[in-house]
Amino acid sequence: MQAVGNDIVDLKDVFCQGKHENGRFLNKICTSKEITAIGESIDPHQALWTHWAIKESAYKAFMKVLTTCTFAPKKFVVSRNGENYSCEYKDVRSEVRVFTNPEYVHAIAAYGKKVDWSLIKWKVALATSEENSSQEARQLAIDLYGQKHVKVLRDGQAFPQLFCNNELIHGIDISLSHDGRYVLAIIMNTDE
Ligand SMILES: CC(C)(COP(=O)(O)OP(=O)(O)OC[C@H]1O[C@@H](n2cnc3c(N)ncnc32)[C@H](O)[C@@H]1OP(=O)(O)O)[C@@H](O)C(=O)NCCC(=O)NCCS
Repeated sequence: MQAVGNDIVDLKDVFCQGKHENGRFLNKICTSKEITAIGESIDPHQALWTHWAIKESAYKAFMKVLTTCTFAPKKFVVSRNGENYSCEYKDVRSEVRVFTNPEYVHAIAAYGKKVDWSLIKWKVALATSEENSSQEARQLAIDLYGQKHVKVLRDGQAFPQLFCNNELIHGIDISLSHDGRYVLAIIMNTDE
């Protein structure tokens, strides 16, 4: 079984500001090792939200493959090896790729025996407004799939999936995220 999850954080969003200096917040989200890594990084603001995005993206992937998975951020443990990240929760692990610039950070978590990143496509866009961002993230996923007559639905599941004529499209996994000015969608071909 393979699954993907994603998360985007608008680094200029007012909610994000100063949180790397807020010990209570850091302690709620991160392990002591992660807090040390954030404090020692050249940009602790960006490092905190990178950890956050990694944890949320891994949660979104794991909850598709585990019978129970609760988002308790500290239990999602982030490791870094050079430019590569991973995230562990209980006995599962996902590879995570992080993309960042001064405006946003986004993470893609991929769970599976052997992840082929060439099968994962993603797109970030500016939302026209926060109210429209959920719909615009769905449209990005449809654009990535490349066929107009499909819909993104959360058919009794917490996570969204692609449907055609009300039938689930098998062999494709998607994940959506929207925050502040940005929307993000990813799609993975899980059939290959
Ligand atoms: C699932 C969750 C992680 C989404 O994160 P978020 O940052 O609020 O929102 P994002 O924009 O990144 O993602 C939202 C999208 O993820 C998808 N999604 C929602 N729940 C999901 C889940 N359980 N698994 C996978 N995808 C999910 C949906 O498509 C949703 O968009 P939509 O509502 O427009 O359909 C969030 O609902 C959650 O449970 N957060 C916990 C927050 C928390 O505990 N914080 C710690 C205290 S500070």
